[in-house]
Amino acid sequence: MNVLIIGNGGREHAIVQAIAKSPKVNKIYAMKGNAGIGELAELVNVDYCDVKAVGDWVDAHTEIDYTIIAPDDPLALGLADELESRGHRVFGPRKNAAIIEASKAFSKELMKKYNIPTAKYETFSDYESARAYVEKCDIPVVLKADGLALGKGVLICKTREEALSGLQEMMLDKKFGAAGNKVVVEEFLEGPEVSALAFTDGKTIKPMITSCDHKRAFDHDEGLNTGGMGTFTPAPFYGEKTEKEVLEKIMLPTVSAMNAEGRTFKGVLYFGLMKTKDGMKVIEYNARFGDPETQVILPMLKTDLMEIFEAITDERLADINIEWESGACVCVVLASGGYPVQYEKDKEISIGDLDEGIILCHAGTKIKENKLVTSGGRVLGVCAKGDTIEAARQKAYKNVEKIKFEGMHYRTDIGVKYRDIEKE
Ligand code: AMP
Ligand code: GLY
Repeated sequence: MNVLIIGNGGREHAIVQAIAKSPKVNKIYAMKGNAGIGELAELVNVDYCDVKAVGDWVDAHTEIDYTIIAPDDPLALGLADELESRGHRVFGPRKNAAIIEASKAFSKELMKKYNIPTAKYETFSDYESARAYVEKCDIPVVLKADGLALGKGVLICKTREEALSGLQEMMLDKKFGAAGNKVVVEEFLEGPEVSALAFTDGKTIKPMITSCDHKRAFDHDEGLNTGGMGTFTPAPFYGEKTEKEVLEKIMLPTVSAMNAEGRTFKGVLYFGLMKTKDGMKVIEYNARFGDPETQVILPMLKTDLMEIFEAITDERLADINIEWESGACVCVVLASGGYPVQYEKDKEISIGDLDEGIILCHAGTKIKENKLVTSGGRVLGVCAKGDTIEAARQKAYKNVEKIKFEGMHYRTDIGVKYRDIEKE
């Protein structure tokens, strides 16, 4: 079959590398892709947030048998619905289910209604009521812009002054645009975090291996929030007891809740979880694969990913046996100088002789005048497997040193955190 993938980051390159191995897949197209994806797929230059334009392109390219929608924006805009209504096969939730990520107010309400453990919260559309609440609430407090804001619409406020000025920035100054019209004010929770992703067809849910992201720009979780500076799998503290708790109290109830709301979710459900003193709680839902979680998860998948995608589309996930390699995988993200604020593009990238087994996931890269150059904030993910996280980590960093571009920066502590937390 011929497959179109929507997206252009490291996550999409990891998905393309996985489906390229599938005997079912003949040719891959990527909208818009990047230089790494371009080695395995034909790149298509159409704006994937223009759902009608994507629909027209797929209609016109009758050789396309299946479309994988990886990023959040086109899902929230209803690209899955658009393609389905034109008779095409797709991977990715419909708009009415993708809202679980696209609106924090919706997801908080869902969790409250169906008793899914999460931080206590209040939602406000009116600045004066929000201000009155924040004048009196417990501190620290967390402010979340309701809509999609590239993972940046969350403020952890350690003082009341910070909370009041953050609220003003979101609701009055519109720092995150329309995403800040509604704001969720949430209890501050503490504990280690894990990204627990799962495949679901709305009937069955099958958890993937767990992973841990590093959202802050610099070592020791300092600096601004980014799209993710690196990941590792598995989460060291996530044992059988935790897995059972998450499945029973969070994953299965979420799938049922979405069905009960008439919003059946088919695709990848991403549970951003925190292990608190009162048990596992949901910090956020995403309606898609994580980036850069996917870069460490998919190299460990033994089952044909395309087979899983099709089983989800056809609602027969229960019949599929999904197998994972044991061991660990680490991904170190190489970013442009200045990311996540301002950064220059078009820097030439040199890649030395990488060790066998290193998986390079391209994010912001492109070919310009026959040279590989940077074209985004996060440029490459260097991924390595090992028997342990430490072994994988050493292998990844050894190869990071073989890659160079002007201004390149990366964290040196990916894979170190949580190693002392007891596994339950
Ligand atoms: P989100 O975009 O919702 O994932 O939030 C970004 C990050 O903010 C999370 O990964 C957490 O580290 C942090 N965060 C979000 N909500 C809370 C909370 N209620 N308490 C503590 N930290 C939080
Ligand atoms: N790594 C976080 C995300 O994909 O949202």
